[in-house]
Amino acid sequence: MYKMNQNETPLFNALMEYVNRETLPFHVPGHKKGIGIDKDFKDFIGENPFKIDVTVFKLVDSLHHPTGPIKKAQELVADAYGADASFFSIHGTSGAIQAMILSVVKDGDKILVPRNVHKSVTSGIILSGASPVFMEPEIDKKLGIAHGVTPETVAKTLEENPDAKAVLIINPTYYGVATDIKKIADIVHSFDIPLIVDEAHGPHLAFSEKLPMSALEAGADICAQSTHKIIGSLTQGSLLHVKSKYVDPKRVQQIMNLLQTTSPSYILMASLDCARRQIALEGKELLNNAIELCKYTRNEINKIPGFYCFGDEVLGKPGSYSFDPTKLTISSRELGITGFELDMILSEKYHIQMELSDFYNVLAVGSFGDTKEGMDILISALKEISEEYYGKREPVQDFLDIPTIPKKILEPREAFYSDKTSKLLKDSVGDISGEFLLAYPPGIPVLCPGEIITKEVIDYVHDLKRANLYVQGTEDSTVKYIKIVSK
Ligand SMILES: Cc1ncc(COP(=O)(O)O)c(C=O)c1O
Repeated sequence: MYKMNQNETPLFNALMEYVNRETLPFHVPGHKKGIGIDKDFKDFIGENPFKIDVTVFKLVDSLHHPTGPIKKAQELVADAYGADASFFSIHGTSGAIQAMILSVVKDGDKILVPRNVHKSVTSGIILSGASPVFMEPEIDKKLGIAHGVTPETVAKTLEENPDAKAVLIINPTYYGVATDIKKIADIVHSFDIPLIVDEAHGPHLAFSEKLPMSALEAGADICAQSTHKIIGSLTQGSLLHVKSKYVDPKRVQQIMNLLQTTSPSYILMASLDCARRQIALEGKELLNNAIELCKYTRNEINKIPGFYCFGDEVLGKPGSYSFDPTKLTISSRELGITGFELDMILSEKYHIQMELSDFYNVLAVGSFGDTKEGMDILISALKEISEEYYGKREPVQDFLDIPTIPKKILEPREAFYSDKTSKLLKDSVGDISGEFLLAYPPGIPVLCPGEIITKEVIDYVHDLKRANLYVQGTEDSTVKYIKIVSK
């Protein structure tokens, strides 16, 4: 099914050749193959990483102007993922998302985005000067999390904004829930504009039919994936793929060059090269094992009183079309402890570190790096916690519905560059917010920079605080004061 030989790892091989030649380094980095590195650090890390920590020269190619092994390594990525062109991002998916946005919209262009986007989307919007039109994601009140935006929401928002230049969606969410992306791609293309996808949590989707559909397969034009989050590359290593009549890969290369360092880590890039070989050749089987292991863990967790780990039953709710079973969202609501508390107990008492916690849940990210032993340790810790708390506390309370999105007065870029002053939130009705204000659950902004502060928002924050729920995002951690745009 692949057109190229996916067994090859051209960049890793070039680095091995550099090592085998025993090259004398008069290039940066200054540690010169590790000789100049602190002893304790080198004793821990070992010598090998320093031998391939090199800089741009012909043998190992250039990320900004690839003509050799990096070019071929990126072509192999495109072949494995079915893209027209693919790019290494050594600034994670955050950098790739900024590049995607800058590649498709410019100053003043409208872009449709879900309200609960990652902050890199906001950075991309600020950098490009684009004008965001927010779409409400679907909120699951029982789980206290946001799912995707529905095709209906995308269609309606596009009908109201026929001058929009692009649509961005998330596939799947952090919690592994995916919307009907195929339908969304068709809707977006019927308006003759590109679909951009934040696929940070989906670099594995294309390699198993047991997982939600990947963005590219669904027809997305450009997507970014955190290879480092879910499959085998080192932290910061992500991929950006293009398959589109709307997006020119040459333009994407230019934008990547604008944003990325001129000293990219060859260790990182080699890890991307090898992670691609691994997922292309062994992905199906590795993912199958990971899926089975997570299914076992989910079943066991659901037998423990007070815990709930959702599975396929989440499907069919709005914004919830398919599900990645390697995500284990463990709700402790019925146990009467918040996800934040559970996270702390697991970390401090059991030395088990979760990926994230929210008001109702902790999230365990499963992958083919997990073992049955590890899962059993988690299960037995949860059993002990259940024995300690079950039946002794009231279930964690419901959360409050978030207010309607306030009117935008300034574009995010204008708000970002404006002078700001601090003001008591309770006195700020009618002022323009200079910062974000987020409500947890469900982790969605109630205010974005440039939006007008309404009485509804202020009352809501007051109610949240009274109910001991979480609101954050402002520089003042008590959310008594808010930064407003100076008049
Ligand atoms: C939905 C989403 N998009 C983008 C990112 C950014 O990815 P990275 O950490 O690779 O920069 C994250 C990170 O958590 C994320 O959850």
